[in-house]
Amino acid sequence: MERLDKIIASQGQHSRSDVKKLIKQGRVTLDGKTVKSADTKADPQKAVIAIDGRVLNYKKHIYIMLNKPKGVISATEDPTQPTVIDLVPKEMRREGLFPAGRLDGDTTGFVLITDDGDFAHRILSPKNHIMKTYIATLQRELTAEDVAAFGEGIELRDGTLCLEAEVVPLAGTVPMAQVKICEGKYHQVKRMFAALGNKVLELRRIKMGELCLDESLEEGHCREITEWELALIEKR
Ligand code: URA
Repeated sequence: MERLDKIIASQGQHSRSDVKKLIKQGRVTLDGKTVKSADTKADPQKAVIAIDGRVLNYKKHIYIMLNKPKGVISATEDPTQPTVIDLVPKEMRREGLFPAGRLDGDTTGFVLITDDGDFAHRILSPKNHIMKTYIATLQRELTAEDVAAFGEGIELRDGTLCLEAEVVPLAGTVPMAQVKICEGKYHQVKRMFAALGNKVLELRRIKMGELCLDESLEEGHCREITEWELALIEKR
């Protein structure tokens, strides 16, 4: 059981003091009855809470898919540059949002933003082998040796060893590849190609686990991830 003002404020649309005012004004109901006091307790998973007759769709956590554009950094706040959190629309905002895994400023694509630390830890931990899929535009074509090196585990130029990864050359007018990694070392994909004497010119993340970036989501836009989609990320 939790305090009603805390439950409502946790959803991000009202501050705790706003909720107290709403309750005072008699605008909040719990299971159909007007709430008299902000310290009324309820089970957030079961209670039917309404404000001005509109039922609160309580969610313990929120999971957001962002199609990140270039020039936006994967941080929660920054004094000079726009962050991925700045792109979250008001109706999805709440305390404690952070990007589950970072993309470089010049990398585009799928960033998952959540307030669920346990989930983020699970999907980022290399132990859980959740693959992150990228499309890289390269300076030169891949060789069979490059493909084999990715499969064996690349040693970065500073001696860091990467876990086994996958790379598949893609047909096109410029050299491109699809890369799958289950780790998130700093600049990892760029450094893996650099270790092979190649260079990443463009990088886009298109998939986390089995969940693809929604290609109808414009760059800079967010949408909530459904429960069904969430399961795809951790699917084995
Ligand atoms: N690897 C990189 O080099 N950059 C990213 O943004 C993500 C993975």
